Amino acid sequence: MFENLHEQPADKILQLMQAFREDPRKDKIDLGVGVYRNAEGVTPVMRAVKAAERKWWEEETTKVYTALAGEPAFCDAMIGLVLGDAVERDAVAAAAAPGGTGAVRQGFELMRMANPKARVFVSSPTWPNHLSMLDHLGIEAVPYRYFDADTCAVDFAGMLEDLETVHAGDVVLLHGCCHNPTGANLNLTQFKAVIELLNAKRATPMIDIAYQGFGDGLTADALATRAVAAGCPETLIAASCSKNFGIYRERTGILMAVSHDIGRRAVVQGNLAHLNRQNFSFPPDHGARMVTLVLSDPELRADWEAELEEVREGMIALREQLAAELQRLTGSDRFGFVAEHRGMFSRLGLAPEVVETLRVDHGIYMLGDSRINIAGLNSQTVPVLAQAIVSAGG
Ligand code: LMR
Repeated sequence: MFENLHEQPADKILQLMQAFREDPRKDKIDLGVGVYRNAEGVTPVMRAVKAAERKWWEEETTKVYTALAGEPAFCDAMIGLVLGDAVERDAVAAAAAPGGTGAVRQGFELMRMANPKARVFVSSPTWPNHLSMLDHLGIEAVPYRYFDADTCAVDFAGMLEDLETVHAGDVVLLHGCCHNPTGANLNLTQFKAVIELLNAKRATPMIDIAYQGFGDGLTADALATRAVAAGCPETLIAASCSKNFGIYRERTGILMAVSHDIGRRAVVQGNLAHLNRQNFSFPPDHGARMVTLVLSDPELRADWEAELEEVREGMIALREQLAAELQRLTGSDRFGFVAEHRGMFSRLGLAPEVVETLRVDHGIYMLGDSRINIAGLNSQTVPVLAQAIVSAGG
């Protein structure tokens, strides 16, 4: 049987992670995978999460199964965090999933169950795993213009033009904030224009929100998702807790299906639970439990929000430093967009040969499309990167 298997294409992000690990150079710099690192290069367990774990260690009395859709308290807490009071609670069906990726995957499967003909419109570029999951599921992915390679900003006119071709029943995948891989984001006015267009076309938005709190703040980063959920009849939302709670390996995420036709909620909820049962049965609990504890305890929550804000401000400071350093070295504003982008990533617009030279000659690892993880830098390595970009002919 196994002789029928063929090799799978390597995941570029994970491949780069491996190459970095194997590089013996001491001064190498990892700007690859989207993992937050502090100035010491450490991905810490957040203070509030650690405190919640201590508390839970004392309080936990059983490890018996939870509910198929995850603990209702987790779903309520996350619906509150992402959607605030933008929609009625009764409009939301939700299920915990193994990480944001698991939630995206369940979302794709739910839409395919509801409409096997649905195509998914994806930004060009998007997170590579969106494309490979769609391919794996046999769902047609249709790219829409998103990133203007000349300005390194959003090509909004191109995006709207391409979205004009969506059909009723198609799904349009949007990044709620902190676009991965570009760092270039729509503003709220632009999101509102997208909402109008999708409603006119009777297409369904699906939002992937993995970096809430890393861009302009916890509430500001949720505003677009809230506007879409409030403004469209139906919305799918996949939210990750990996990054903003720093619990990557705990695999904690949630899929929400919002419908303003409240009578549909029970059936949608049943389908979400069914999908969990078919794919992995009960979702992981530990990370979800920590998130629930942090969000529901005012002291833990305040400390978590404060630490997340430090993380966010740190990334903005690094962006400003890098843009200023490149301005100083090149004498031009060509890289000014780095300070305007938001979230963990920026696509620098460097040629593949430059990216290669940076890796081979300077030990600086970034994705082949020149996406960098801003949080892989610190104030000492920013000038090193800027100088290397200039030396490599970027
Ligand atoms: C990334 O884009 O680097 C992260 O979302 C991690 C991953 O799984 O790809």
